[in-house]
Amino acid sequence: MEIDLTRFAALSVTEQEAVFGRRRAGGEPLSGGSVDSAPGLNAKTPEGRYLVPVDAHVRRANPTVVGVGHMLRRSYSIDAPAPGLLFISFQNDLRTFTATLARMDTSDALLPFTTTTASATFLILPGYTPQRPLGSGLFG
Ligand code: HEM
Repeated sequence: MEIDLTRFAALSVTEQEAVFGRRRAGGEPLSGGSVDSAPGLNAKTPEGRYLVPVDAHVRRANPTVVGVGHMLRRSYSIDAPAPGLLFISFQNDLRTFTATLARMDTSDALLPFTTTTASATFLILPGYTPQRPLGSGLFG
């Protein structure tokens, strides 16, 4: 995914943090806690406004909000051919990825800064042992 860094960098730090739902300097959720804390999606200001905005990326992509299973993410920042993120995720069910992206598509504040230029899906077989050869689970 390419990222329009020029446009994103033109936002104030507060606006950038609202896009993701985490603090820029330390990574803490806007609902409080440490970088290791999960975002408190129900936390509100005394006026009733969500601390993690309704369109923040961490809210839109949250597995509980999307209603999907666990996704392990391992992405790489890239500079060429353009600045962006080589987004990689591992999941038992491909729907975990597609449903998350579909949910982001409707109103994730991050997506207007990104352009997806390529995509691929791979089946990764579980590990193997001498008793359980690679791919044996596929045949019953
Ligand atoms: C340019 C693209 C993207 C950037 C820069 C980005 C960045 C981030 C950042 C900074 C976080 C918060 C820190 C963290 O939890 O690791 C995050 C969380 C997350 N992102 Fe992304 N992301 C991108 C695209 C995607 C895509 C395409 C998906 C899946 C379809 C995705 C799924 C998630 C999930 C599941 C979380 C954790 C939400 C939670 O439970 O707190 N992201 N992302």
